[in-house]
Amino acid sequence: MTTPVSSPQLSGRRALVTGSTSGIGRSVALALAREGAAVVVSGRDDAAGEAVIKEIHAAGGTAHFVRADLAEGGLAVARLAREAAERVGGPINLLVNNAAVLIPAQSLTEVGEQMADAAFGVNVKAPALLVAALAPAMVDSGGGVIVNIGSISGAIGSPVSALYGATKAALHSLTASWAAELAPKGVRVNAVVPGPTMTRENAPYHAVLRDIASVAPDGRPGTSDEVADAVVFLAGDRAAHIHGATLPVDGGYLAAR
Ligand SMILES: NC(=O)c1ccc[n+]([C@@H]2O[C@H](COP(=O)([O-])OP(=O)(O)OC[C@H]3O[C@@H](n4cnc5c(N)ncnc54)[C@H](OP(=O)(O)O)[C@@H]3O)[C@@H](O)[C@H]2O)c1
Repeated sequence: MTTPVSSPQLSGRRALVTGSTSGIGRSVALALAREGAAVVVSGRDDAAGEAVIKEIHAAGGTAHFVRADLAEGGLAVARLAREAAERVGGPINLLVNNAAVLIPAQSLTEVGEQMADAAFGVNVKAPALLVAALAPAMVDSGGGVIVNIGSISGAIGSPVSALYGATKAALHSLTASWAAELAPKGVRVNAVVPGPTMTRENAPYHAVLRDIASVAPDGRPGTSDEVADAVVFLAGDRAAHIHGATLPVDGGYLAAR
């Protein structure tokens, strides 16, 4: 008996994954490339970006690295949007807004102006400007897909992550509004909402993540590959009728609170 070989779901897609030099973003970039997308990997760390590119090339995929510091604001975002399209040879038609400032646990009195600016700048302002820069060309070139990486922290109250949670709640809200605005124009917008997720880079914190995830129905943290699988699904044509969803990949954490 022969095993059926499934064809790549994302051939012809030109993808940009922000914050794909490490963690969940790296897994997403690898997964999109495995499914046939040409992927722009982005972040501030050139060496880490080049390493991801090498991994993708070694697996037979297509990828380019474009350095960008999303904390630098509008000009940096505009440059990333332009260079990403140039590198893949056409308008970006798959955007994954993944880059984020992950703030260590803090009480409200520990929130300073610099921290607030950095968190809202990278987690909210940058995706908003990037969507503004890329969506018109998606519309003009026949449509596209945007997947935002949210967080369960954006859907629950927490005594130690108010600021980070607020940035993620804003991204969930942008997901719904962008879906409403862009669906009639052929662009699908959704979010994946991870719970505690183990990545290669956060290995020193896996025990903490296990502890947090122990109250979820399936009792374990997710993996970056499990989050990437959800992104691949939402990016592909099998999700053609899904708009404005915030899809938890959290072992049931949100459902059971
Ligand atoms: N891991 C979890 O448990 C978890 C749970 C829920 C949600 N999430 C969400 O999942 C996403 C990825 O998290 P992760 O755990 O994979 O974190 P991570 O390993 O720290 O990755 C964050 C990425 O964002 C990039 N980044 C940070 N600041 C940037 C800036 N100023 N400009 C450009 N890129 C920047 C980093 O790239 P450079 O260092 O190269 O700049 C890095 O690639 C985030 O949106 C996070 O909120 C994670």
